[in-house]
Amino acid sequence: MKRGKFIVIEGGDGSGKTTLLKSVGEVFPLKKFRLTREPGGTPLSEIIRGVMLSDEARRASAETQFCLAWAARAHHLQNLVVPALESGVHVISDRFDSSTFAFQVHGQEAPHLEGLFREIRRIYLGRYAPDMYIFLHVSPKVGMRRTAGRVGERNHFDRRKFEFHQKVTEGYLDFFKKINPPHVIIDASKSLEEVKRNFHQALCNIIGRK
Ligand code: TMP
Repeated sequence: MKRGKFIVIEGGDGSGKTTLLKSVGEVFPLKKFRLTREPGGTPLSEIIRGVMLSDEARRASAETQFCLAWAARAHHLQNLVVPALESGVHVISDRFDSSTFAFQVHGQEAPHLEGLFREIRRIYLGRYAPDMYIFLHVSPKVGMRRTAGRVGERNHFDRRKFEFHQKVTEGYLDFFKKINPPHVIIDASKSLEEVKRNFHQALCNIIGRK
């Protein structure tokens, strides 16, 4: 059986990521896809997510969050992602290791973790590194303007100040430059219609027509 494709979607607040993920079914038969998220995706990894985003972890160091994220990722990969790919299903993950690079190495200012990041990435992901990352790029300023007044759950990372989100955005760009996995960067400051079109086109390019 042909292995499914492993696709990651990343994008900050106000990038339209949630809306776009919901729109996958408009273009492709959903039974061919498994939509999942990080941290999370499996019951154990969702528990780790709860820990990472708890108020208790508000002041947790980059080292602590880094290891929690990778622990959750290992379990998610082994128990959900790999079995789905091997059964010919495409996996779309809302966030993946690019978020650890952006949030912990950059946002939480831990450049000394970059070497470990590369090593753990090589060992943990092995043959299952994502086939494509799609990054919805929007400046935090535009993103924050779009989400102002939006009600909903906000974790302690979301509540951090502008400078943190700026570093996270730079972190994503640094990830694509330095790690350089297969990726597409979509300008998400454009209208939702246009971003959606580009997103669907990117998906078609990876997995072929429906
Ligand atoms: P969200 O995806 O529902 O917005 O929440 C996930 C939060 O977790 C988000 O603020 C980014 C953060 N995060 C990390 O700090 N490190 C990671 O490795 C991942 C996957 C997410």
